[in-house]
Amino acid sequence: MKKAKVLVTREIPEPGPSIIKEYCEAEWWTREEPPPKEWIIEHIKDKDGLLCLLTDRIDKEVMDAAPDLKVISTYSVGYDHINVEEATRRGIYVTNTPGVLTETVADLVWALILAVARRVVEADKLVRSSGWKVGWHPCFMLGYDVYGKTLGIVGLGRIGAAVARRAKGFNMKVIYWSRRRKPDLEKELGLEYRELDDLLREADIVSINVALTKDTYHLIDERRLKLMKKTAILINTARGAVVDEKALYKALKEKWIAGAGLDVFEKEPIPPDHPFLKLDNVVLTPHIGSASHETRSKMAEIAAKNLVLVLKGEKPLYLVNPEVEKIRPLSQVKVIE
Ligand code: GLV
Repeated sequence: MKKAKVLVTREIPEPGPSIIKEYCEAEWWTREEPPPKEWIIEHIKDKDGLLCLLTDRIDKEVMDAAPDLKVISTYSVGYDHINVEEATRRGIYVTNTPGVLTETVADLVWALILAVARRVVEADKLVRSSGWKVGWHPCFMLGYDVYGKTLGIVGLGRIGAAVARRAKGFNMKVIYWSRRRKPDLEKELGLEYRELDDLLREADIVSINVALTKDTYHLIDERRLKLMKKTAILINTARGAVVDEKALYKALKEKWIAGAGLDVFEKEPIPPDHPFLKLDNVVLTPHIGSASHETRSKMAEIAAKNLVLVLKGEKPLYLVNPEVEKIRPLSQVKVIE
């Protein structure tokens, strides 16, 4: 069998490596931190395919260094780190791993909602640091109820809908804003559509579930944060840059809103002197939305299959840029035979 040449920018869980090794000669970056861009540029020269992570910036410069590149398979649902337009122009297939991580990310949204509303992390820290001095007290560590409140979903894609589904168990009213209205989901889940500003005025808990694009960059800015209730909680598990972080810091510090649960940041990892670290009313997690054993393994399988399928001249499981087929049909990217 003729194998394809591929570059893999990090070790991924099984069955990813087994699938790749069966069909490809692969070169791997084996350290935990992301490879420097120069390493990618140096090693992608003769490669047919690239399996990358969301921490690798795959731009025109990388593509210029890779004249043979036919597929970029990202081990993530988000693809804001890839210049998809440029890839399409060059006939490079871009694939991702949606679907399998939906429920796992929705679980983390709920973990953050409950942690922020009921001050779980703050309470844990207090007990560990021997700050629990007076036993049970009527006004000690009060948070906010979640049950029966109004949840506002910003972006009703797969993950937004999965977050909404879980809200039923908490007897919540669920309102949403999305680029396009989704009448079927409105009916199935009993959702009500709102304009974004109205959603922010009305919701007790706001969950950000939109992809990062030119249109959603700093979608939640100072003006919009000021529309929110003083008792409201903001959850972001999408991409940091959807929220203006400086404005959010002000909102949390000056108590325009009650709290936030953040899994994503404008720059990751956040620096040790990041102002969020000084705030008690924010729960911070290190971009672990899809981080379960089961899901990361499924993502590896899909990312590896996407890579191999394109190089076999077959349809990948998830194609980000279907327009590419007109520029370079699958039959022309076939390498594995
Ligand atoms: C994680 O953020 C992903 O895009 O998969």
